[in-house]
Amino acid sequence: MSLSARNPEYPIDPLFVERWSPRAFTGEPIDEPTLFSLFEAARWAPSANNAQPWRFVYARSGTAAWESFFGLLNENNRVWAAKASALVVLVSRKTNLRKGDTVPTPLRTHSLDAGAAWASLSFQALRSGWHTHAIGGFDREKAALVLDVPEGYHVEVAIAIGRQGDPATLTPDLLARERPTERLPLKAIVAEGRFAFEA
Ligand SMILES: Cc1cc2nc3c(=O)[nH]c(=O)nc-3n(C[C@H](O)[C@H](O)[C@H](O)COP(=O)(O)O)c2cc1C
Repeated sequence: MSLSARNPEYPIDPLFVERWSPRAFTGEPIDEPTLFSLFEAARWAPSANNAQPWRFVYARSGTAAWESFFGLLNENNRVWAAKASALVVLVSRKTNLRKGDTVPTPLRTHSLDAGAAWASLSFQALRSGWHTHAIGGFDREKAALVLDVPEGYHVEVAIAIGRQGDPATLTPDLLARERPTERLPLKAIVAEGRFAFEA
């Protein structure tokens, strides 16, 4: 399936169908101002109580920190993420210290809010000529240890950032999967009035 086959049912900004998660990256370096413009976009995401529970820890390829980030990934993700330009680990704070309080209260939406920030980062990456690929297949416990994530934080996801590369560099099985995915139809995910979906 090509990008042009991603047909929205209603008019939307092309950004939403143009974002997808390739695995073929060029391996070229990403400079910090470029990377930080992606974090900047993430910073403006909405969150409950404006608690902004997201935290981004990153390593750029070729830097001292890269190997420790790369070593967190499952083997099947290492195969392709080796050519990413940056790896980011997104962490969220599970509690919120509200103004005037001395004890933090649980923040039920910490993962939801972090997800909004990840989406913003991903769309900005596309606008800036880069691609992102979220990675759930990594060792979260090891990430907490290696990256000094304190108690009270949840390791959410890793994110590979890179420039889209030549699919021919991928292994045959990954090459076969190197295409934009489809989506459920709107009627399968939206209902008026009650939860009227087929199981
Ligand atoms: C939380 C999360 C975890 C994911 N984990 C992996 C992963 O470990 N390995 C991988 O290759 N892709 C991973 N993906 C990518 C998804 O498979 C991909 O986003 C999904 O198939 C939709 O395709 P698209 O992003 O190209 O639109 C992950 C995506 C998300 C959001």
